Amino acid sequence: MKKVTAIAPANIAFIKYWGRTDNKLFLPLNPSISMTMDKCLTKTTGFIDSNIKDDLIEIKEFNSNEFIKLDKVNNIKAHDVYNQIERIRNLSDIKGKVHIYTENSFPSDSGIASSASGFCALTACLLNLFERQDLFIDKKEFSKQVRLCGSGSAVRSVYGGFVEFTSGETHEESYAVQLYDENFWDLYDLVCIVDPSKKKVSSSKGHMDSNTSPFMKARQIELSDRIKEVKKALSKKDLPSLGKCIEEEAISMHAVMMTQKPPLFYFEPGTISIIKQLIDLRKEKYILGYFTIDAGANVHVITDRANLTNLQMELEKNPFIKSIIVNKPFKGAFLSEDHLI
Ligand code: DP6
Repeated sequence: MKKVTAIAPANIAFIKYWGRTDNKLFLPLNPSISMTMDKCLTKTTGFIDSNIKDDLIEIKEFNSNEFIKLDKVNNIKAHDVYNQIERIRNLSDIKGKVHIYTENSFPSDSGIASSASGFCALTACLLNLFERQDLFIDKKEFSKQVRLCGSGSAVRSVYGGFVEFTSGETHEESYAVQLYDENFWDLYDLVCIVDPSKKKVSSSKGHMDSNTSPFMKARQIELSDRIKEVKKALSKKDLPSLGKCIEEEAISMHAVMMTQKPPLFYFEPGTISIIKQLIDLRKEKYILGYFTIDAGANVHVITDRANLTNLQMELEKNPFIKSIIVNKPFKGAFLSEDHLI
């Protein structure tokens, strides 16, 4: 029996994807830029199973020992997963049902971009299982296939290093582009876990309501300059300039989230505590760490090698932080012979 295993990393957005221009093709309102992470991975093994009548996904959650069937009915993400299977099967002559096993190396749905790694690994696995390797090998095509599953962040996990997800008005125009590979800059993302529980409102629902915020217009006006600044800071490996931009960007996205209708509040007390700690550390101890936050309470602290040890030591003193995952840039999604089952 042919088994296919794909591994995909999560990524952290420096410029955020929040809002869409098309909810069927999942075209983003603005381009986003991210760094691919080496410690937050999803591994997915699939095979065509002649013993099952329906496609079947089994998930092993972080820190669990058993695979649990993904409930199709009460889970919006599950709906997207089963749709992606159906869609990719329709691109193939192979018509069998698939049995998929998947596991994460980190807590899911809590603002660490588990859907990025999850949907990217799933799409890589399916394209190879249904013998559409042509759409996997060509990374631009691969990223467009990933986009159609509905997770924009997953598009950026196609590549390693530093990646842009272009906006665009058509399916052909919106895809991932690698800006620099994983060896370009020894940057770190310290994911500070203050709350490992799952988020209550999906990003998908959030995107749909985002244009109800009066601040969305202002955000779009300032974004084009900020994108230029992030690219410039990356090209010069300039941490303070990059840090300033990514903090402004995270605040801008959360200002929209908090003012859209209904409003979305992802921050917890620990989130604010880390933001203030980082500002104080820069001012008082000249230790450089910069925050960014996705759709969850956990804080991603971006730093470089020179600041890493001192910064980690300081963050470990913060009583809100339950654990820290230290990530470096990593390669994009890839296939493996080390199957889950
Ligand atoms: C806040 O539609 O990609 O993380 O599939 O849940 O990751 P998920 O949501 P998606 O929106 C991403 C929202 C974000 C910002 C970002 O990663 O760019």
